[in-house]
Amino acid sequence: MPYYRVAGEVPAKRHVRFRGPDGSLYAEELMGEEGFVSDSSLLYHRHPPTAIVKSEGLADVAAETALAANHPLLPRHFRTRDLPAGGDMVLGRQLLLANDDVRISVAAADTGSALYRNSAGDEAAYVRSGTAEFESVYGRISAHPGDYVIVPRGTIHRWLPGSGGVQALIVEARGHIRPPRRYLSQYGQFLEHAPYCERDLRGPDGPLLADGEDVPVIVRTGAGLTRLTYAFHPFDVVGWDGYLYPYAFNIADFEPIVKRTHAPPPVHQTFEGPNFVICSFCPRPLDFDPAAVPIPYNHHNVDSDEMMYYVGGDYSARKGSGVGLGSITLHPSGFTHGPQPGAVESVIKDLAEGKTATDETAVMIDTFRPLLLAEPARAAEDPEYAWSWASAARGQVSPPAADQGPGF
Ligand SMILES: [Fe+2]
Repeated sequence: MPYYRVAGEVPAKRHVRFRGPDGSLYAEELMGEEGFVSDSSLLYHRHPPTAIVKSEGLADVAAETALAANHPLLPRHFRTRDLPAGGDMVLGRQLLLANDDVRISVAAADTGSALYRNSAGDEAAYVRSGTAEFESVYGRISAHPGDYVIVPRGTIHRWLPGSGGVQALIVEARGHIRPPRRYLSQYGQFLEHAPYCERDLRGPDGPLLADGEDVPVIVRTGAGLTRLTYAFHPFDVVGWDGYLYPYAFNIADFEPIVKRTHAPPPVHQTFEGPNFVICSFCPRPLDFDPAAVPIPYNHHNVDSDEMMYYVGGDYSARKGSGVGLGSITLHPSGFTHGPQPGAVESVIKDLAEGKTATDETAVMIDTFRPLLLAEPARAAEDPEYAWSWASAARGQVSPPAADQGPGF
């Protein structure tokens, strides 16, 4: 995590005797990354965080979903809003795309989740719509549309959707999700050229205290799901401090970086993880050189698969394309993608008529190993998408391609 934070009560020194009102010692727990040589936080529990009374293996429906290679190779479009809604933000996930580095799911949750700890890696949840309370051993974060909620590996937490439910994209990493290293000083402060900074991050509002005994916690490891029953409720932390904790960042707080001519997606990078990046395409001025081609050039990122999640803005200009809010496109390595034929002239005309900005918002994940397709993705697939560029180029009446917007 980028900076130091303290919540609740902590003693003046680490590892000194710290007692509650009844004289009993609080139990320390150091949550730390990379074996004591990276970021950590020190938590003070009312009860031993080690006390478990039961361990049971659980079926993991998502993990048991068959994964298929993207073969024969195709660019793809998935209408995620067609997927079944309901369930919770943990067990109700619909796995769409996965490889050995990352698992990408969507959830349309309407019920609270069980307590959950992902010990296989960090998670990032992007809230497309709806609201939820994210509660953890570190405290509560209220999640709103546009929030990325970054959950460090090992954080015991639960998601409680608001009255309208919550619709989210969930990224499970096999490691840590962090701000890009190039945005930070050697000591971790956000630099002036970074598109966001510490003031844009929202940490937990303080520790939560809950009573309870024999409390189940679902734990994800590389081997699957286990239900551990804790003797005492894990939300018994009176205070903590450190650099490691969940936090939220809203995509509207991302400050777009623009050029006179078209800037490539690394200017939109928001987070990085092992073998993948997360980028935020936000409302911004169109490329403003009078001679600029104001939308992307065709491109082939030979080392990446590119997933785009369309989350905001007016897509009426793409009437008939099928791509809309909640759509996901996948442009794999081996396929050159770019604007639909005719899109450049169309946007140049818009510019001449005074439309000098784009209001579209999207989340992009580029992976450096191929993404496999899970069954829910196939169930939500638009089979016509792959041919839309050719249809437009030949002047056929056809849905326009999705990847024609100013930002992509
Ligand atoms: Fe692209």
